[in-house]
Amino acid sequence: MSKLPHIGTSIFSVMTQMANHHNAINLSQGFPNFPIDEQLVTIVARKASENVHQYQPSSGNLQLLQKIANLISTSYGRTINPETEILVTAGATQGIFTAIQALVSRHEEVIILDPCYDAYETPVILTGAKPIHVELNDDFSPNWSAIGNAVHANTRMIIINNPHNPSGKIWIEADFVALENLLDKHPNLLVLSDEVYEYITFEQPHISVHQREKLRQRSISVSSFGKSFHITGWKVGYIVAPEDFLLEIKKVHQFLVFSVNSLSQAVLSDYLDIVNLAELRRFYQQKRDFFRELLQRTPFELLPCEGSYFQVASFAHLSAESDLDFTKRLVTDFGVAAIPVSAFYADGKDLGRIRFCFAKDNETLIRAAKQLERL
Ligand SMILES: Cc1ncc(COP(=O)(O)O)c(C=O)c1O
Repeated sequence: MSKLPHIGTSIFSVMTQMANHHNAINLSQGFPNFPIDEQLVTIVARKASENVHQYQPSSGNLQLLQKIANLISTSYGRTINPETEILVTAGATQGIFTAIQALVSRHEEVIILDPCYDAYETPVILTGAKPIHVELNDDFSPNWSAIGNAVHANTRMIIINNPHNPSGKIWIEADFVALENLLDKHPNLLVLSDEVYEYITFEQPHISVHQREKLRQRSISVSSFGKSFHITGWKVGYIVAPEDFLLEIKKVHQFLVFSVNSLSQAVLSDYLDIVNLAELRRFYQQKRDFFRELLQRTPFELLPCEGSYFQVASFAHLSAESDLDFTKRLVTDFGVAAIPVSAFYADGKDLGRIRFCFAKDNETLIRAAKQLERL
């Protein structure tokens, strides 16, 4: 008997297969199609000839742990102990799975805010806990009264994602105050903060749980080098948590992967000395502006994009089709693949919106927009 009978092929695979079949431009899956930083390529070549090919300490390469602590100190002004508060993971996904497995028990509840990335619910179900889906407002801001009503003594965790996939929404100060008030009321509640797009934000600065004194002791933050450095295929990320939680998380990590790919860790450790994160932000801001400008010539209504590399567009005024049917028609008739936003809701809520990924070279974005102009 399947433990996960409801899990089929993901919408990301479905759309990518359709895109390949119809030779369409694939703006569905969230990965960049441009080359990685040349400096990173050089470091890979240099490091590959060094003695970096054996198992690393389970928590991570010691130099890399120190560099991550430095990064958090420069980015957020938080001092963390690299030996006891950081764990290098095989991408953010493994960090999320491991943290849930280690900290949530059978029959406890976990709040998931919809629409959301698809990696949250399954680890909750596999621990025997219960996912409780609470919808964000239609502008993708958190609905604090609905969240407050959903949390009670048996709620162990709330998973937040800021900047947000699929919408690019960024939480504001008031959201963090509301979250802190919730934690005050519920002493058993932990925060799993998925911040994989932390370095891809535009006009508004990203607020991290690292910057909130009250949240630091109750939060597990999740980061992804894959997202930050255009190397999604490397699958390296890290989590930061208070020592007592991290001890439990490390127990699960030890038997899941033991330690993460050694070459990648050695390379990332050197790369963190030279990477320019402000440049990364500028790069994506230009991409966002460029893509939005191109889409102005199409009939879509564009929702705000405050961070991440996703742009949500509404077609509700153009067609009464479901967003899935509309997205399929975009592939077959217009040669462009996107993701229907209903796929990110547990109940399939359909507001006539689709998500494009603009982490693509300009030529791809221009070709896609030209095809969409025919709409
Ligand atoms: C919100 C969010 N969290 C986590 C991940 C997974 O990150 P990683 O590839 O580092 O596992 C993604 C990837 O798309 C994402 O969008």
